Amino acid sequence: MKGGYEHYMQKEIHEQPEAITQSMRGRVKQQKSAEGNPYLQQRIKLGGLVETRGNPYLQQRIKLGGLVETRDTIRRSRRIMFVACGTSYHAALAARQTVEEMVEVPVVLELASDLLDRCCPIFRDDTCVFVSQSGETADTLRALEYAKARGALCVGITNTVGSAISRATHCGIHQNAGYEIGVASTKAYTSQIICITMMALALAEDSISKRERRDAIIDELGALPDKMRSFMQVQDVAMKELAAQLKDSNSLLFFARGNNYATALEAALKCKEVALIHSEGILAGEMKHGPLALVDEHLPIVVVATRDSMYNKMESVIQQLLARSARLIILCTAGDATMQEYAKRSDCQLIEVPGTVEPLQPILNIVPLQLLAYHMTVLRGHNVDQPRNLAKSVTVT
Ligand code: UD1
Ligand code: BG6
Ligand code: NA
Repeated sequence: MKGGYEHYMQKEIHEQPEAITQSMRGRVKQQKSAEGNPYLQQRIKLGGLVETRGNPYLQQRIKLGGLVETRDTIRRSRRIMFVACGTSYHAALAARQTVEEMVEVPVVLELASDLLDRCCPIFRDDTCVFVSQSGETADTLRALEYAKARGALCVGITNTVGSAISRATHCGIHQNAGYEIGVASTKAYTSQIICITMMALALAEDSISKRERRDAIIDELGALPDKMRSFMQVQDVAMKELAAQLKDSNSLLFFARGNNYATALEAALKCKEVALIHSEGILAGEMKHGPLALVDEHLPIVVVATRDSMYNKMESVIQQLLARSARLIILCTAGDATMQEYAKRSDCQLIEVPGTVEPLQPILNIVPLQLLAYHMTVLRGHNVDQPRNLAKSVTVT
């Protein structure tokens, strides 16, 4: 059942390269549009006529059967609102920037319970995307009924075919990540980021100006499972060692910014829910507005500083934390000499992950942090797959 692993959580962490492959199967084409596409060139030459709907060269790379009919409506909506709970909310947060960049429509995120508590205004020209691994979470389902009653187009992203959310939404994407048993969601999270990213790419498929960027992201989607596989075993061993050092901490902080803010929140959630360690994910841009007061030489802080558009800002965060003698663990891109130098000079530990394009980096970055939470849980002697007080699917409000 657990395929040689001791716990479902560990098995499901290791299954991620396969799970994201399944999410992309039949949906992402690695074959690039023909160079010197005459169709495209002719259209551009006609000057101003950039409407390329129906252009077979531009349409061939992402195919989401579930969104074919609603694609144009989504693109024309006034805003796109993601609604979810827990880890699924973090997946929407991780991919929000990609949707904003590709679709150029305002994107907002709502925790389902809060949307309902506030009686949040929702309109007919909104698209609401409900992200739920189980497809049965009561708050998300109630928020869906609420949005539907207000005339919004309701899209589902769920790992469970036939679930309440899959059935009640107008259209959607099944994650196809395989059944997830561990209460702490792992492979469903990375697969949700893949699905939202594919949705963003599919919605931008007619855009010539975004073509190069789309192609770059799609190329990297193809490389992602192998990149993940390449460091899984090494990180499993490394994170077990790190877990042994951190397991008795009273608290653990994760600092990040940009789309890796989701990585920080998700890592902290894993530490709370399974390792039962107090933990917080902190948007590093807010560091000076409070969290800095917590910093001392004892509190372990994981800083996410992979090579992306946030890199310089995160380096400055590292310098400010080191100036206060913080105990740092730096998650960086493999082979980053600058970060290796910080590690040597200031005795901080490094977690090295392969680099990829910015929209996909959170998918690789979370893997060692899932493993860290897993090993801390085992070492602390807690129930990995069924943490106290929690349920896989919360079907009551
Ligand atoms: C579908 C088939 C898949 C088949 C493929 C062949 C199903 C469930 N999927 O996958 O087995 O290999 O065609 O092209 O039979 N939907 C919702 N809400 C959700 C998720 C999905 O309404 O939360 C709807 C979609 O809009 C779509 C249907 O369910 O109408 C199936 O979605 P999905 O499985 O994602 O579609 P395909 O990938 O095309
Ligand atoms: C529960 C689970 O709280 O529900 C979490 O323990 C999960 O892991 C959350 O993220 C939301 O679940 P779903 O199925 O709607 O994604
Ligand atoms: Na449906």
